[in-house]
Amino acid sequence: MRASEAVFFMHRDGPVTRLPIGAVPGKRLGLRAVLMLMLGAGVLCATALVAQAQDNAKVSSKVAVSSEFVGSETCAACHEQVVKGFDNNPHTKMALMHGDNGVTCENCHGAGKAHVEGGGDVTKIFNPAKATPQQVDAKCLSCHAGTHPNFERSPHAKAGLSCISCHSVHQAKDEAKLLRASQPTLCFQCHADVKPSFNMPFHHRVNEGLVKCSDCHDVHGSFQPNNLRTTADQNAVCTKCHTDVRGPFVFEHTPVKAQGCMACHTPHGSQNARLLNVPNIDQLCNQCHSPVANDAIHGMGRGSSTGTPCINCHTMIHGSNFSQAFVK
Ligand code: HEC
Ligand code: HEC
Ligand code: HEC
Ligand code: HEC
Ligand code: HEC
Ligand code: HEC
Ligand code: HEC
Ligand code: HEC
Ligand code: HEC
Ligand code: HEC
Repeated sequence: MRASEAVFFMHRDGPVTRLPIGAVPGKRLGLRAVLMLMLGAGVLCATALVAQAQDNAKVSSKVAVSSEFVGSETCAACHEQVVKGFDNNPHTKMALMHGDNGVTCENCHGAGKAHVEGGGDVTKIFNPAKATPQQVDAKCLSCHAGTHPNFERSPHAKAGLSCISCHSVHQAKDEAKLLRASQPTLCFQCHADVKPSFNMPFHHRVNEGLVKCSDCHDVHGSFQPNNLRTTADQNAVCTKCHTDVRGPFVFEHTPVKAQGCMACHTPHGSQNARLLNVPNIDQLCNQCHSPVANDAIHGMGRGSSTGTPCINCHTMIHGSNFSQAFVK
């Protein structure tokens, strides 16, 4: 599925990227990109139009572009180090998508014939490091849109980041995911403001490697505020690990389901035990519960902040199958 999508896109942008680069030498990259889009729509040669028509019918048009591809062995002649370093890259799998043509480099850099014939003419090859975020994203998403369809509307894309703000294809520190740095270092490079929370007395052990930022956030975009992972039941961001509080319970504590975990907890770190929003549990309860009646159970000191803490009796605070009052 993914492979066929990729083939579909690659062969479509073959002719589109090729034409304007030859047609407008020396133009700045940004301008060229605009022209690419305009020309791409209008000035396509006959073969390309055929290719386009085939693409629309979701048929790949291998022949139309293959003559412009030179293959990675040719690249190796001049970029030996880069090619060597590419051996363990997950993108070597791409070679298999081309009927063993060995095409890998050119899936991202575009057809390389003109670049090679020009003795390494840098104006005739696509270099993501010099392209706009939109151009980079479009290139990467031509294959990865299936897994990251929401990136362009994420806070990261809106702030002008591109895939290669966090990923590096050739100089990754975290090989598996091709990250520029491992988490959380990567994130703290830009989000220094959240770093102190993870040094608080009570915190999710992100620095210690037990929990990752991406366990709760989808940095590639989601439909929730704060890039939070989207789940059917939004509490599932938390309950995938904290299964014991997930429920469903016969007697639900309303705010757990109605407002979610954040009604009482803070996610990153806190001065308060159990990552609670407020230092005093009774105070927390009293935010929503008017002081309990002076009844036999709660009367005279019991259940007040100076008496027995609420939680001593209401132990099943996330819900219970036995007690409507969440007592044992
Ligand atoms: C004949 C030698 C030669 C071959 C073959 C060759 N290149 Fe290059 N390439 C160069 C030279 C020279 C540069 C400029 C290096 C520099 O400025 O540091 C370059 C630069 C680049 C750049 C950076 C462009 C920029 O804007 O800075 C990329 C990307 C690139 N090559 C990719 C490729 C790919 C992919 C292939 C195979 C399809 C390839 N090259 C084949 C010689 C070659
Ligand atoms: C998955 C996409 C992808 C593939 C496949 C790929 N590259 Fe790159 N290449 C990039 C990106 C992105 C950059 C910009 C620098 C970076 O992020 O690492 C780049 C940069 C370069 C540069 C410029 C180096 C520099 O430091 O500016 C050269 C040369 C290059 N690639 C050659 C190659 C060769 C040769 C291959 C095949 C072995 C290849 N690339 C395969 C995405 C790719
Ligand atoms: C021509 C299609 C294609 C393009 C373009 C492409 N990729 Fe990939 N990418 C792949 C394939 C295929 C894999 C290997 C998938 C796998 O291992 O299941 C991969 C793997 C990855 C992985 C590792 C996935 C993992 O699960 O560990 C990352 C990260 C990645 N690509 C990022 C990028 C970025 C960033 C760009 C743009 C610079 C890019 N890709 C461009 C096809 C592509
Ligand atoms: C803000 C940083 C950031 C940006 C921007 C970003 N990524 Fe990622 N990406 C990550 C992190 C962190 C992971 C590892 C997530 C994990 O381990 O669960 C990842 C994982 C991946 C993976 C492999 C696992 C998966 O979820 O499929 C792919 C493929 C990928 N990213 C592609 C992309 C592409 C394509 C773009 C641009 C459209 C992009 N990323 C933009 C940080 C980023
Ligand atoms: C246990 C889940 C979890 C983990 C782990 C986590 N976050 Fe969060 N993060 C959240 C939640 C939930 C919010 C929303 C807070 C709110 O609604 O008040 C948030 C909010 C944010 C915000 C926006 C609001 C703010 O506080 O500035 C940023 C930025 C952020 N997180 C970055 C990170 C980074 C970076 C990491 C890793 C170092 C990380 N988060 C780890 C759950 C988590
Ligand atoms: C290259 C810089 C950079 C990196 C690296 C980066 N971010 Fe961001 N992030 C930003 C910018 C810029 C924004 C949008 C402005 C803002 O809200 O701070 C943003 C927004 C966010 C938000 C949404 C905040 C909100 O208010 O909605 C979260 C959550 C977040 N990033 C988490 C992460 C995580 C987790 C990582 C690491 C995997 C990461 N970021 C890596 C720059 C970065
Ligand atoms: C990836 C798994 C994971 C996710 C997701 C996660 N947590 Fe945690 N949580 C942990 C671990 C592990 C601990 C700490 C155990 C330790 O450090 O001893 C913890 C500790 C806590 C504690 C303190 C428990 C105590 O005994 O002091 C609270 C409260 C908590 N998490 C709430 C949340 C909330 C709320 C969310 C969602 C925003 C969340 N967690 C998401 C794994 C996770
Ligand atoms: C109405 C307030 C409230 C809500 C909402 C709430 N909690 Fe709690 N939670 C507490 C209190 C109070 C404690 C402290 C219990 C104690 O100290 O015995 C606690 C303790 C915890 C603990 C520590 C271990 C345990 O089970 O006692 C975890 C983990 C936890 N909560 C996770 C969550 C998650 C996940 C959610 C969302 C599904 C959530 N909480 C929603 C009030 C709440
Ligand atoms: C965010 C608001 C909120 C917080 C904080 C909160 N509650 Fe509740 N609680 C509710 C709501 C709403 C109900 C449902 C009330 C109803 O159905 O009349 C409820 C129900 C209850 C019930 C069952 C009442 C009944 O009549 O069956 C008990 C017991 C209870 N809460 C105890 C506590 C304790 C103890 C704390 C502190 C650890 C606490 N609550 C914190 C909102 C909250
Ligand atoms: C000594 C144990 C104990 C303490 C301490 C305690 N409760 Fe209760 N509470 C109970 C029991 C037992 C019930 C159930 C009464 C029933 O079933 O009729 C109850 C019932 C409730 C109810 C539902 C019925 C009602 O009276 O409104 C609420 C709400 C409540 N408690 C809140 C609190 C809060 C808030 C605190 C802390 C300020 C607290 N309780 C402290 C034992 C306690």
